Amino acid sequence: MRCHCISVLSVLATGLLGGLAKPLSQPWDDTHIKHSWNAVPKNWVSQGRPPSGTTIDLYIALKPHRENALINALYEVSEPAHPRYRAHLTKEQVADLVAPRPETFELVNSWLEHHGISSSSISMTHGGNTLKLKGLSVTQANTLIGASYQVYRHVERGETIVRTVGYSLPRALHWHVLTVVPTTSFVSPRTQWQTPRNRSRRETVGRVKSASGEPATMLSSRAKVGYVTPPFLRWLYDTATYAPIAMSENVLGVVGFLGDNPGPADLLAFMRKYRDVDDAMYEVVKINGGGYDPTHPHKEANMNIQYAEAMAYPTPHIFYSTGKGQSGTSDWFATWLEYVLDQEDIPRTISISYAYEERYLSREDAIYLCDMFAKLGALGVSVLVSSANDGVGEGACVTESGMVRFIPPFPGSCPYVTVVGGTTDYEPEVAAVFSGGGFSDYFKRPPYQRQAVPTFLKDLGSRYQGFYNDSGRGIPDIAAQSIDFQIFLNGREQRESGTSIATPVVAGIISLLNGWLISVGQDPLGFLNPWLYGRGLAALNDITEGSNPGCGTDGFSAIAGWDPVTGLGTPNFRKMLGQLF
Ligand SMILES: *[C@@H]1O[C@H](CO)[C@@H](O)[C@H](O)[C@H]1NC(C)=O
Ligand SMILES: *[C@@H]1O[C@H](CO)[C@@H](O)[C@H](O)[C@H]1NC(C)=O
Repeated sequence: MRCHCISVLSVLATGLLGGLAKPLSQPWDDTHIKHSWNAVPKNWVSQGRPPSGTTIDLYIALKPHRENALINALYEVSEPAHPRYRAHLTKEQVADLVAPRPETFELVNSWLEHHGISSSSISMTHGGNTLKLKGLSVTQANTLIGASYQVYRHVERGETIVRTVGYSLPRALHWHVLTVVPTTSFVSPRTQWQTPRNRSRRETVGRVKSASGEPATMLSSRAKVGYVTPPFLRWLYDTATYAPIAMSENVLGVVGFLGDNPGPADLLAFMRKYRDVDDAMYEVVKINGGGYDPTHPHKEANMNIQYAEAMAYPTPHIFYSTGKGQSGTSDWFATWLEYVLDQEDIPRTISISYAYEERYLSREDAIYLCDMFAKLGALGVSVLVSSANDGVGEGACVTESGMVRFIPPFPGSCPYVTVVGGTTDYEPEVAAVFSGGGFSDYFKRPPYQRQAVPTFLKDLGSRYQGFYNDSGRGIPDIAAQSIDFQIFLNGREQRESGTSIATPVVAGIISLLNGWLISVGQDPLGFLNPWLYGRGLAALNDITEGSNPGCGTDGFSAIAGWDPVTGLGTPNFRKMLGQLF
């Protein structure tokens, strides 16, 4: 708070002098650590300084004037009982809600001027909520924010990133700046497909149900061989008898990181075999130097696009190929979010199958990214993200103090996205053992979970006390099939699993709902959770069997109602249609 008073005084002083002089004296040399780790985060090793000539784009996220305005507006337009339900905001309205104080601008600008950052390399997004400094040399960036950027390599995955273990800002700026990105986030988004591993599966043979839409042969093939195909999913989630109309306003976006891209030939083969259509296609949008080689498809991107199309065809699809910047200087999520929020037309539904551990991101970075998801929601975009594949956490999960702590995933811990866990089998559907779930350590329980989560916690009692944050946002929200999907890769069929596939399945179904709303002249659903936890609940199949072991424990159990394994359950499209008004 003291910093705030000093800075306001200096701005006042400037004003009093009629703008003739710069602020009396700005203590730019009086810096203080903004964020730092005690040591290089686990699994990353330094490769030394980046090659000379490496440049970096920095986002400086400023604190908004009205702290809660964006989130309040988001809930108004997302809560079915509110008079402004689905009256989504324009980009200008969102920018207005998150605009910083004028003095925040002045201070930050005079600091950048002091460091000789030319105004031509500074641009603004969201009405000035974020400043982007483009093409700084790493040396310049080191001086500006007291950082020591180095190239770090992930010991298992080989990915390289340019990050700093800590950074500082002048004390006078701490109150005004939320965070600078990328700095200390040691994260590598992981694809959420699942390496086959031993799992206890229920016997599916012979449990055949005759229901509308599902050709008998598909049902029995599922029952006999136990794998998942589009006809099975369309029967199970009740989209098979619905004939969507393709509308240019209703696009389904599939996000790609890590250089992943899909292949059109595989998509065609897949859609011919399982949907009996031969014109399935997607548009590719390349961001930040992202590539696209249609002849070399990647498994993750193929899975995502094939199962999004399986559910939502003939809805138009966009695949985002996101680049990593020079030597890995960019933050994947920040790059994609800043890009998409800057577009005139944003897809009404978005599927993201990449996740990492919340704990390797600072709380401020998590808030910056999460607020951008809130902006998407306020604009009327439904965002579906994977809950990850590690159950309650990978490995032993023992903290420095020797305690077990479950590991929540990000962006799933953000309250303003809809998180998708995994199931398998049917009649009944049960939780997939790897389904990610738990509680955020950064974001508190959102209002839409105020009944669902305490009910679960009451049932859990004192079990796992201290292993998780019982006031945190509960993960996931919803679930879908996630084991043994037929996909095409390089012309051949193979079988894949993971919440990576569950996510585009749910996104496809939501996209059908959004398309239907638009076709009858209505606004789309936007941020789904207040609806899902309210009247949408009647349209979900509750999953009450299975659990998500991890961290050397049995994990949480799926029970009646919400649980941190399968959320509220799996979707029923026809019933969802019935709960829209
Ligand atoms: C997993 O399955 C393989 C082959 O079915 C078996 O040999 C192995 O013991 C199993 N491992 C565990 C941990 O159950
Ligand atoms: C638990 O969550 C709350 C709300 O997000 C947070 O303020 C608190 O620091 C968290 N506690 C731990 C130990 O992470």
